[in-house]
Amino acid sequence: MISADLVVAGCRELVTCAGALPKRGPEMRRIGAVENGWVASSGGTIVFAGTEEEFQAGVAPAPGAVTIDARGFVALPGFVDAHTHLPFAGDRAREFGLRIQGWTYQQLAERGMGIQTTVKATRAASLDDILALTLKRLDRMLLTGTTTAEAKSGYGLNLEDELKQLEALRQADILHPVDVVPTFMGAHDIAPEYRDRRGEYVRLLVETLIPEVGRRGLAEFFDVFCEPSAFSLEETRTLAAAAKAAGFKIKVHADEFVSLGGAELAAEAGAVSAEHLIAVSEEGISRLAAGDTAAILLPGVSFFLMMDKRAPARRLVDAGAAVALASDFNPGSSHICSMPFVLQLGVFTLGLTVEEAICACTANAAFAIRRHGAVGSLEPGKKMDLLLCDVPGHVSLAYEAGRNPVRTVIKNGKVVVEDGRRVAAR
Ligand code: NIG
Ligand code: FE
Repeated sequence: MISADLVVAGCRELVTCAGALPKRGPEMRRIGAVENGWVASSGGTIVFAGTEEEFQAGVAPAPGAVTIDARGFVALPGFVDAHTHLPFAGDRAREFGLRIQGWTYQQLAERGMGIQTTVKATRAASLDDILALTLKRLDRMLLTGTTTAEAKSGYGLNLEDELKQLEALRQADILHPVDVVPTFMGAHDIAPEYRDRRGEYVRLLVETLIPEVGRRGLAEFFDVFCEPSAFSLEETRTLAAAAKAAGFKIKVHADEFVSLGGAELAAEAGAVSAEHLIAVSEEGISRLAAGDTAAILLPGVSFFLMMDKRAPARRLVDAGAAVALASDFNPGSSHICSMPFVLQLGVFTLGLTVEEAICACTANAAFAIRRHGAVGSLEPGKKMDLLLCDVPGHVSLAYEAGRNPVRTVIKNGKVVVEDGRRVAAR
């Protein structure tokens, strides 16, 4: 018999998302739904997920084991938010007001606002300020079911302030139940003092920032905003090569607004992911489908920037790309950190099926940050990161639009949200 110290018993529907990763094409719809599903873990690791019968035949709760009655709930893997710009200071509510009056995101950026507004605020903030803001945001994310979050720096744009953001992420990962996966994004924009000397900023990144952040081991990924307003294809290639040499895995903000060939470049550079892809080309879609570079779509951006254009999610899924969804949580283009809302946007605005959207927010999202060995599905060997949602079935995760269905969050085998409220881990 398998011994367990935590049992989640009698879920109305258990959605495991188990199986080989990434899931592509029709596989994305096979989410492994089990009626009257049971899940058991030991020491924070899942030891069983299946039917009641299989549980009774194979699992023995250890003395003192905790049992959670999940009757009436749908159980899901904890959400993996594969793309956020979490550690920023300040907000851009004033600029949002201008956008409502008709200014575009790009027009604000051209006038020195946008990302640069947040760079000013983030540089002015202390490490403790940024840490406190990050922890508060992680609390919010946990309440909507995020148990693992990728998080990018990129509002410092010099060594000291990029390190400050990454150090806040390191501490937040230790202090908070949500697992934080750090990405160095010194190539988010040209630093303001290098505006007229962009080549020098690229050189600073290649010669100083990338090697120094690499040496300190403060980030696992390197990300670059490949867009005419930020870094060109050629600069992106140079930066990605330097980052690879310094030991980073590569991510690329690709084809967000302009079809530049960022997706093709990401595939060619062996990037872990190409992200955004609102303007991805047919060639870019084929390249992603043919390789292991995940396509992370961020439907919050088209929504938040009130754009008619959206990422071609259907074509990407049907072509066989490893499609994930994420929030892009940031103060300018997607001030959204709720994964249930992102899942709903995936269905309502990108044309994904509910099953595809669930897979894209869990298992494929874990693949897109290379954490699929540990999280993203409910199967033996993975972390016990599990959500209980009070919906009658998984379709209602989207059907009950605008709602947060997450009532219970278990992270690493500990209950951290109960009845929709944060509780001390137990
Ligand atoms: O993913 N594209 C670049 N970066 C963010 C926006 C950051 C900001 O506006 O502060 C994005 O959309
Ligand atoms: Fe982004």
